Amino acid sequence: MKQEIQRRRTFAIISHPDAGKTTLTEKLLLYGGAIQLAGSVKGKATARHAVSDWMELEKQRGISITSSVMQFEYEGYCINILDTPGHQDFSEDTYRTLMAADSAVMVIDAAKGIEPQTRKLFKICAMRHIPIFTFVNKLDREARSPYDLMEELENEFGIGTYPMNWPIGCGHDFKGVYDRENRQILAFQEFHRGQDRIQAVACSLEETEKLDGLIGHRLRQTLTDDIELLDGAGYEFDLEQVRQGKLSPVFFGSALNNFGVEPFLESFLHLTMPPLPRTSGEEVVDPMDPRFSAFVFKIQANMNKAHRDRIAFMRICSGRFERDREYLHVQGNKTLRLAQPQQLMAQDRAIIDEAFAGDIIGVFDPGIFSIGDTICEKGMSLCFEGIPTFAPEHFAAVERVDTMKRKQFEKGIMQIAQEGAIQIFHEPNTGVEEVIVGVVGVLQFEVLEYRLKTEYGVDIRRRPMPYELLRWVENDDVDIRSLNLTSDTKWVQDFKGNNLLLFTSPWCVNWALDKNPGLLLREFNRD
Ligand code: G4P
Repeated sequence: MKQEIQRRRTFAIISHPDAGKTTLTEKLLLYGGAIQLAGSVKGKATARHAVSDWMELEKQRGISITSSVMQFEYEGYCINILDTPGHQDFSEDTYRTLMAADSAVMVIDAAKGIEPQTRKLFKICAMRHIPIFTFVNKLDREARSPYDLMEELENEFGIGTYPMNWPIGCGHDFKGVYDRENRQILAFQEFHRGQDRIQAVACSLEETEKLDGLIGHRLRQTLTDDIELLDGAGYEFDLEQVRQGKLSPVFFGSALNNFGVEPFLESFLHLTMPPLPRTSGEEVVDPMDPRFSAFVFKIQANMNKAHRDRIAFMRICSGRFERDREYLHVQGNKTLRLAQPQQLMAQDRAIIDEAFAGDIIGVFDPGIFSIGDTICEKGMSLCFEGIPTFAPEHFAAVERVDTMKRKQFEKGIMQIAQEGAIQIFHEPNTGVEEVIVGVVGVLQFEVLEYRLKTEYGVDIRRRPMPYELLRWVENDDVDIRSLNLTSDTKWVQDFKGNNLLLFTSPWCVNWALDKNPGLLLREFNRD
């Protein structure tokens, strides 16, 4: 069991749409032999269908509403990749997925640097202090200076960076990278779209003639100067800092051309850690503890529409999971057998007999689990720290069209909110029946509308609201009505009775903080 846990690596890939996350994931899967696509991975359409759209239902619906998990083997490691959906299917699930990862790979487009979605996802990773590895992609295109990119990462994210390799030219001039650890050149010759592994050309900086032949005199000189500068800058590579999330190792490459992907994977696997311990109150749960424990980080409704079923995804925190054994569902205070335990292997879903700390399993949920719940061996008294609720960014007032359908409407919207797809609020003491719905990604509004209609038979009217920011009021004793707020700030409550404020701009948040000394506002909630 210990060996199995020791060889597991569970990480999420984060990026802004189009930076190359799908392409990189696919190349990693190719190396692991989890998918076999001879030759080039051509269009995005083919690529997406091959890997990310593992769920038939998604294809039928034409929308991707889930974060997928892919497991594969590579050189003795068992790798779990958590995909964080981007594009229009960005949702709170994307954030929650990061709660299940032990590290993150941040893909950045070399021409664009940090983009809004990278920023949001980084924040969540930083909150957990998990190691973050940076892959600067698309060096085969015109790119910004690597110094510039690293400076941006350091200034915006407040972390250190350490270039593991260094690009030689970019765009048409892209000649490869210099591997700083092995002090050799990895030469880029042409398009390598397929599975081929690129041979490194061993060549030190002192072999000037050979280098001139490989990359040209001008680039050789630039490289020599760059490396001298980097080595001289005195930045030490500090693994401890990496593991605490304070220093990000940076790799340059081109996922599309398969360039720099395998060295990145090898280095990454070598530097990341096996499953990290998780806390339950004061107790730190060791992943090597043979007793099984896990927490639910995502609930996917309607995997099969005919059965109205739900799948609860859990991250195993310790020990070994065995099919057909009875475990304790802590929040429900009941023992149960987890039905149809499944694991996702690239595009397949398979029923499994066992799984280990670090793995993600999906189990059939007859409606008993909530996000953040703990499942463990009987006799263990555990309760993992819950998963925070993250502030939505889009808001709409929602009401039912048919006034007779009050019960169905309330039941439906409540259940969908409990699954964590949307958050719901109301204006206290106004008697207004409208429900304010908040979502992280706008697609969730459509999902809500679709599900209320198909599952609960309720049509809704939706009125967009101009708010952009939501903050939980941390002070228990404050009288919200007496606060000095801009006139467009709205006071709402969630269904647990927490007080929140809706703002139309960051300026209004600052106003609230400035004019009300002692007011504490939070971007996420842990209740
Ligand atoms: P995402 O998952 O982060 O959204 O990005 P994705 O991998 O889908 O890549 C976005 C686009 O960038 C794709 O082009 C992809 O081929 C391209 N791309 C990814 N890596 C590289 C790279 O290293 N170099 C270059 N030049 N392009 C790269 P597309 O035109 O949108 O789709 P496709 O039809 O080419 O697949």
